[in-house]
Amino acid sequence: MIKKAVIPAAGLGTRFLPATKAQPKEMLPIIDTPVIQYVVQEAVDSGIEDILIISGRTKRAIEDHFDRNTELEERLMNEEKEMLFNEIRHIADMAHIHYVRQKEILGLGDAIYYARFHTGNEPFAVLLGDTIINSVIPVTQQLIDVYEQYQATTLAVEVVPEDKVSRYGIIGGEKLDDQTVDVKEFVEKPAVGEAPSNLAIAGRYILTPEIFNALEQTPKGKNNELQLTDALMLLSRKEKVISHTINGKRYDIGNKLDYLKTTVEYALRRKEFAEPFYEFLKEVVENTKID
Ligand code: G1P
Repeated sequence: MIKKAVIPAAGLGTRFLPATKAQPKEMLPIIDTPVIQYVVQEAVDSGIEDILIISGRTKRAIEDHFDRNTELEERLMNEEKEMLFNEIRHIADMAHIHYVRQKEILGLGDAIYYARFHTGNEPFAVLLGDTIINSVIPVTQQLIDVYEQYQATTLAVEVVPEDKVSRYGIIGGEKLDDQTVDVKEFVEKPAVGEAPSNLAIAGRYILTPEIFNALEQTPKGKNNELQLTDALMLLSRKEKVISHTINGKRYDIGNKLDYLKTTVEYALRRKEFAEPFYEFLKEVVENTKID
């Protein structure tokens, strides 16, 4: 049983400046809901009730978001805005959320290492706080199902075009079935032409507690940071690591173009906006010339 999830949300968000100078990238809204709320929802929809957010300086808004705001609640009550009241109130009750601050930005591996006292001897899920995935079955649930089958560390992966491999952790190994690989190779952000495959780590993991020993033994890697991908490589020499090609569409909110695309797609999926927004987009496209 996977009962706990860790959401690393301490990164500086340099790809989204100036918006992220004083506010967390995880709080950027997709329409009206901050990205991290979608991520917490995915964990909750996968049966997880306990969440540790790896936070940092400039990230206080995340804590405030998942806290109650009694003044606002009172106002909404008095104005008889019951639906909004329920929505706001629900956010504070989604899960048991805990926080720990990463003191220096030393990489994703370092951020995960902060979770060791919280997760203890149990396997746990990791959901990157700047990635949302739209799917029928939540991707964390998909990973839990694979974990239960193999009883091994499990990573979500997706096929990416060759010119994008240098943006991701790329894996290679022995194919077990159409969606599953017994992973033997891990390279964090390889140069084009040096990737073992076109399967990219997609921001969701089920990790066993052995990852903490592996992290302790992992030297600094890409960008002089402690990379989770490098620790997984080390771990795979001792125990099985499985990858699962996700059923779903991933959105990386950390970069501006993907953020724009995500907003458009999510708006088109929302009943109240779908038609007028579609008409608006059509008109804009028809009347826009790109030089
Ligand atoms: C991190 C991981 C990388 C993974 C990516 C997915 O990189 O290090 O292996 O493919 O997330 O979004 P980041 O995007 O934080 O640089």
